[in-house]
Amino acid sequence: MAIILDGKALASKMKEEIKAEVAELNANGVFPKLAVILVGEDPASQVYVRNKGRDCEEVGIVSQTIVLPAETGREDLTELIRSLNADDSVHGILVQLPLPDGLDDSEITQLIAPEKDVDAFSYYNVGRIMTGDYSFVPCTPAGCMELIKLSGISVEGKNCVVIGRSNIVGKPMAMLLMQANGTVTVCHSRTRDISGITNRADIIVVAIGKQGFLTGDMIKEGAVVIDVGINRCADGKLRGDCDFESCAAKASYITPVPGGVGPMTRVMLLKNTLNAAKIQEVSKNV
Ligand code: GUN
Repeated sequence: MAIILDGKALASKMKEEIKAEVAELNANGVFPKLAVILVGEDPASQVYVRNKGRDCEEVGIVSQTIVLPAETGREDLTELIRSLNADDSVHGILVQLPLPDGLDDSEITQLIAPEKDVDAFSYYNVGRIMTGDYSFVPCTPAGCMELIKLSGISVEGKNCVVIGRSNIVGKPMAMLLMQANGTVTVCHSRTRDISGITNRADIIVVAIGKQGFLTGDMIKEGAVVIDVGINRCADGKLRGDCDFESCAAKASYITPVPGGVGPMTRVMLLKNTLNAAKIQEVSKNV
């Protein structure tokens, strides 16, 4: 039976450390600040944005939420991001995705100044992740790596399989595992014989948004299973992309949903914002 990786507890510990660092910056007159832009009234996005504000408050990061109507035009949104880019009191900027119809997620995301891009979605930050020389990592893959590291699991030399090739999770996750000296295979919707690949994996990260996709018969005894999926089921419960029961029976470590990757993702945004503040304040003083 697998050891359950308690993301909630690890995230709590990290929050305490971040809180202490924020307090130290505050004592030196620096007040880390995150600006979150929400366009429209998507209920899930409203919850995510509210949670981001609460998380910031918990660690003493100043947060500003800017809510705009769904009809907001490209020019107005561009103007807002430009003004936040130029505002020295703002260290991190995040545009909640997806944007409403008529606004291009990718185009708008690229307007954020790279040094304030706490999601690490800009081409500049994506490029830095490719080279291994980065300041920010997208929050979900960063959270998975932290969870793996803090649990004492070594990636070096391991067969790592990432299921999913999204720009936000799968691709950067593969890069980070490779930088940690793992041997990485990325599987996706066109991959043939996924079981044949997952059955050889020491570490599996599942991020495809299909509830119960990874089953126990697809993994080897002792595998580490990191489940990024969050699927709302008909019974109202949240479940991941792996079938927890059958995977937990064979895995050595497994993340639960909820309470695994999710809390780590949230805390990584705080860490990226803190880092953004540190970097910007240092560059102001040279
Ligand atoms: N929507 C869903 N996930 C994310 C995320 O990580 N960042 C942003 N900006 N929007 C999202």
